[in-house]
Amino acid sequence: MEDEFIVNNMALKLSDYAIFEGEPSNLLPAQDYTFYNLSSELFTDYSEKQRLIKLPEGNSASITGNGIPDFPNGTILVKTFYYFNDKRDSTKGKKLIETRLLIKTESDWKVGTYKWNEDQSDAFLITSGYNQTVNWFDDSGELKLISYRIPNNIECRSCHVSGDQIIPIGPKVRNLNTLVEVDGVNENQLDYLIKKGIFGQANPQEYSSLPNYKDPSISLDLRGRAYLDINCAHCHSQNGLASGNSPRFSYDESLSSSRIPDVKDNITRRIERGTMPKTGTTIIHAEGVELLKAYLNSL
Ligand code: HEC
Ligand code: HEC
Repeated sequence: MEDEFIVNNMALKLSDYAIFEGEPSNLLPAQDYTFYNLSSELFTDYSEKQRLIKLPEGNSASITGNGIPDFPNGTILVKTFYYFNDKRDSTKGKKLIETRLLIKTESDWKVGTYKWNEDQSDAFLITSGYNQTVNWFDDSGELKLISYRIPNNIECRSCHVSGDQIIPIGPKVRNLNTLVEVDGVNENQLDYLIKKGIFGQANPQEYSSLPNYKDPSISLDLRGRAYLDINCAHCHSQNGLASGNSPRFSYDESLSSSRIPDVKDNITRRIERGTMPKTGTTIIHAEGVELLKAYLNSL
């Protein structure tokens, strides 16, 4: 039986949203789409990701705390997944795989993903998932070959659901409250997005900031928690798929309420076997496993 999230009236062609200017593979957004970065990102089989946001003209989102801001109806969040042919040399080109959208309507967020065609001229809505062979040279020059998973709409839902609502995950204020480089100058991203009219007035210093789990200058403790937050907490939270008695991985949870120390060995076993995260990856994130093991050993 199909549910309302499968039959959702999304455009069939990505080009209808006029997200990119010129050749899509240049990933140059149109004027009304704005880039944003996250301080810590979800691991998805080493794919590269570009994130964009568009608000309906004349509207801005309001910051109401450290979590997901209040976005106006009509907001579009865009995430494009791609691989460089050779990670060591971006001039050798890239391959776009899929572009995922979340669109805010009066009642909910609609989800849809668009699979890029062979000549990379447009992408088309697919709701039933697809396993796509992808190969690239990684940063050590090793040839990687994987069967990348484009999720179906039920898989989207398994991560993006909170109770019975679909919600965004990345653009939490604490995950946007980080330095970004704009025209060669470092700037707080919240300030940047305020200037761009995406957010109303706010003072970034009043909000918390999620550390970048890849930054070795940050303490292991914070990096471990940031990794669990962005890779696991969407399911492991009060209203997520793994609610109930499962561990709670949100960065907000205190260590004792998270139950991380109680399930240390279980976490290690599952991430080493690749049975967690439950969906969203087809290969093990070696650097992530290494980080989590070091973190868990330090507890
Ligand atoms: C394995 C869990 C998982 C699955 C499956 C998943 N997402 Fe996400 N998604 C995330 C996480 C975590 C983020 C934020 C972190 C990031 O972008 O690195 C995210 C980010 C996004 C974004 C950018 C806005 C935001 O919420 O951060 C869009 C758009 C999106 N997902 C759409 C989709 C669609 C459409 C599908 C199904 C085709 C899907 N996602 C499947 C976990 C998932
Ligand atoms: C797509 C949703 C989803 C994601 C993402 C996810 N999990 Fe889970 N996890 C579940 C569900 C559902 C269960 C309970 C069923 C089961 O054990 O398989 C679970 C169970 C677990 C358990 C066993 C809990 C216990 O009480 O012993 C551990 C440990 C775990 N997950 C760790 C992780 C870690 C670490 C990550 C991130 C690297 C992660 N999970 C990401 C859905 C998810």
